[in-house]
Amino acid sequence: MGGEARVVVVSNRTPAVFTPSSVEERRNLPVGGLVSCLRPFLEAQGGIWLGWDGNSDAQVDSVPTSITDVEGISLASVSLSRDEVEGFYNVFANRTLWPIFHSFPDKATFSHDSYRVYRDVNRKYAESLLALLRPGDLVWVHDFHLFPLGLELRKLGWKGKIGFFLHIPFPPSEIFGIMPWARELLTCLFDYDLVGLQTPKYLHDLKESLVDGLGAVVDGDTAHYQGSTIRLRSFPVGADVQAFREMAQSQVGTSVSRFLDVLPKDRQLLLGVDRLDYTKGIVQRMQAIEQLLDDHPELRGHVTLVQISAPSRVTIPEYARERERLDSLVGKINGKFGEVHWLPIHTLHRPYSQRDLALLYREADTCLVTPLRDGMNLVAKEFVASQTSDPGVLVLSRFCGAAESMHDALKVNPYDFQETASAIYRALTMDRPERQRRWKALYEDVNRHTAHDWCYSFLSALGDA
Ligand code: G6P
Repeated sequence: MGGEARVVVVSNRTPAVFTPSSVEERRNLPVGGLVSCLRPFLEAQGGIWLGWDGNSDAQVDSVPTSITDVEGISLASVSLSRDEVEGFYNVFANRTLWPIFHSFPDKATFSHDSYRVYRDVNRKYAESLLALLRPGDLVWVHDFHLFPLGLELRKLGWKGKIGFFLHIPFPPSEIFGIMPWARELLTCLFDYDLVGLQTPKYLHDLKESLVDGLGAVVDGDTAHYQGSTIRLRSFPVGADVQAFREMAQSQVGTSVSRFLDVLPKDRQLLLGVDRLDYTKGIVQRMQAIEQLLDDHPELRGHVTLVQISAPSRVTIPEYARERERLDSLVGKINGKFGEVHWLPIHTLHRPYSQRDLALLYREADTCLVTPLRDGMNLVAKEFVASQTSDPGVLVLSRFCGAAESMHDALKVNPYDFQETASAIYRALTMDRPERQRRWKALYEDVNRHTAHDWCYSFLSALGDA
């Protein structure tokens, strides 16, 4: 990494929804892979992290630069007004970019007004950021909320290095090209020195869009367009492996550990951990559970699925509908198979601490990571990191970035609930030597690409760019 350079991270939100006087609110963490992979690095190395403070009551023209130090990280906040949150976050980021990048074009909304707000808010992030920067800093911009931030920062005169990492999939060029702003968004990338994606597949799809959509010239890992050059590479995000191993071994008296204590010995535990998002395939997973219990009546009373579905983007209609679909299906399945002493599915609509999750991962006989589409999915890696000598089995969607390297999981097409049900059955009945062999191979992969390795390899490539 580039000598003593300070690292300045920018993402839509920081890990704390905080006010300067209230570090307590840090417990209210946004959930998702971005925070899980960046936080350990910044806590260990120090650095500045700029993001929206999570409120929606700022005056439109306010550009605050308040900084709070929390566990080695200097958190700096951007405040947004109600209209900015609506146009930038609710509509353009979450109802246009999110569905398009996850290949759900029928769920996408196209509004020129919201695109304008998206551009204005990116300018606001750039102004807040510039006030924090010193010559020599490495600026690292994260995710789809902030494509134009590099361009805005250059317009304000910043000459230093800027890197961009996309945490979500990059879609095939014919889906990306549906957006009226596809060319402008691609052009924005040329103000970065380095652009990182999760996997070689997404890198390939981005290159295709640059060539088809923009007429850029791609040569190996560089792209050229109108006199500008960027480097493009894949950097698969990893888990904080050591932290999960340690947390999984420490027993604490939480409600989760008490639940695990009273779980009958003849009961196998299935686990799902997701943000409640339609891309995560939670509804399809429930259909697979119904199929499993239809096909294998002998499992009734002997398996329980704990599905943690942390609420996410709750004011957005697609998310509210997903919650209704999920609740109604779980009600139907529990009503169909349940007994007074046993319910097949427990859905918990709240986030859990990493410590609680580590215990659940350790105890789970099978972890179901079955998104319809996902950039990487760190739950798969955290589950593997938390296993002991009697490991559980990972059932993994073919359509997430993690599937590109986690070859010893049981891979499924999550749209095919019959195939998923068969894979769950196979996982529940797998003998210990096969579980151990598969886990060992998965662990080697997960331990080779940790969250720390990801940060260092991106930042050293940015330093060299
Ligand atoms: C995904 C995105 C991240 C985001 C996270 C939580 O993982 O890639 O950028 O931080 O979801 O989303 P939220 O809208 O709740 O901040």
